[in-house]
Amino acid sequence: MKICCIGAGYVGGPTMAMIAKQCPDIPVHVVDLNRSRIDAWNSDSLPIYEPGLDEVVREARGRNLTFSTDVESAISEADMIFISVNTPTKTFGMGAGRAANLEFVEKCARQIATVASGHKIVVEKSTLPVRTAGAIKRILGSAGDGASFDVLSNPEFLAEGTAIDDLLDPDRVLIGGDSERAIDTLAAVYRRWIPEQKILTTNLWSSELSKLTANAFLAQRVSSINAISALCEATGADVDEVARAIGTDSRIGPKFLKSSVGFGGSCFQKDILNLVYLCEHFGLHEVAAYWEQVVVMNDYQKRRFAEKIVKTLFNTVSDKKISIWGWAFKKDTNDTRESAAIYVCRDLLREHARLHIYDPRVSRTQILKDLQTVMSDADGQLSPPDQRLIENHVTVASDCYASARDAHAIAVMTEWDEFKTLDYQKIYRAMPQPAFLFDGRNIVDRQALSEVGFEVHAIGKS
Ligand code: UDX
Ligand code: ADP
Repeated sequence: MKICCIGAGYVGGPTMAMIAKQCPDIPVHVVDLNRSRIDAWNSDSLPIYEPGLDEVVREARGRNLTFSTDVESAISEADMIFISVNTPTKTFGMGAGRAANLEFVEKCARQIATVASGHKIVVEKSTLPVRTAGAIKRILGSAGDGASFDVLSNPEFLAEGTAIDDLLDPDRVLIGGDSERAIDTLAAVYRRWIPEQKILTTNLWSSELSKLTANAFLAQRVSSINAISALCEATGADVDEVARAIGTDSRIGPKFLKSSVGFGGSCFQKDILNLVYLCEHFGLHEVAAYWEQVVVMNDYQKRRFAEKIVKTLFNTVSDKKISIWGWAFKKDTNDTRESAAIYVCRDLLREHARLHIYDPRVSRTQILKDLQTVMSDADGQLSPPDQRLIENHVTVASDCYASARDAHAIAVMTEWDEFKTLDYQKIYRAMPQPAFLFDGRNIVDRQALSEVGFEVHAIGKS
């Protein structure tokens, strides 16, 4: 048994590292077109930051875990091929802004069809619209050389920042397919470390749809509590108290009720928009509108946060220094895709604020790239005024203290643990008065900071 994985990203890399660690006798070859990403996987400085990942990769790499750009050899040698490439929201043509761009998945399927011989199990790991497996099967059906295939759907439910724990001890592993034998071959890999009862099997379409639905439900919870946060601010209720009160109802449960500046990450928005597009495609307009509201609410939450900063700072942030803490979409990852910080900072920049941004794991290059992308038009063009704003109004700081020095306000965008244990007296003394702190994650000790002198504005607290 040999495994290959096409796509060495946030999903493919950690998942394959875990399979290789748990199955030392199975060679696992991870391939990607991106040479610098593969070089990083082969170095001491992995391309993604994920607690515990270094140790897992170090244990398996060179033993049964290989990273390379040699896609063709990896495909032809493997018995089982995982497709773990990106499926971003389409930015052009039909379904732009909603449908998933399946160009990378289709290219993989075509390459497998061209290169493969003998029997192979092809596993969809990327999140895909329902019935994509049908398209993959048709493409694979054109393969020559007597090649035959089984196609399985095996969506990944890991969350970034906790990927290694999630892979080690998942709530469940889902395998969809119509060949008992293929399902059992894949299940046998997971059975090496995951109890049998956690391995669920379904038909292909249920598996594909379950992944979209899980993300839609999770995102919906965040949007629901965020919607209530706005009402809390208006009425004097406290969103954390409300979350605690409703979370003790065993039917609701306490998890995923943390109000925030808005959800980010590569999955939630993309998958809901994908679901919305699917519903529209099948003429289910009310269902589409229902789910779309989750994204509408998330956009509102991000916009509301930026507006609150401007209004509180006496209706102008022009030329005021604002310290931004955190750029990643959540703590313990260097991933910035769809991070709320990007949108809040775009809005503040358009108000001509001077931003001093600090994140413990995100590079300056990535921060500037994200701002350039978000401020560009549909053709990817950045206007000269926006270019000047980014050049002249954005500084990437080396730590929280440098970022906050002389700043009118601090905005906490990511819930990094280090933001909880800073010397706030020192920070306060280096800021002009009144000193404002906008906590987009409700992580600071409001009472203590108010005693220091800060005017603290938290989400969902009046
Ligand atoms: C998500 C799903 O959890 C995972 O199962 C799927 O495989 C991929 O998408 P991920 O995006 O990595 O994982 O992180 P997650 O922990 O779900 O957080 C997503 C966003 O929601 C983050 O921006 C996070 O800060 C935000 N969030 C989460 C909240 O604002 N409040 C919460 O209570 C939980
Ligand atoms: P995810 O978060 O889903 O893992 P990423 O964008 O982090 O998504 O990773 C997807 C990876 O797939 C990228 O590194 C990209 O270069 C790679 N990729 C996309 N298409 C192909 C392809 N046809 N062959 C090999 N690698 C590919």
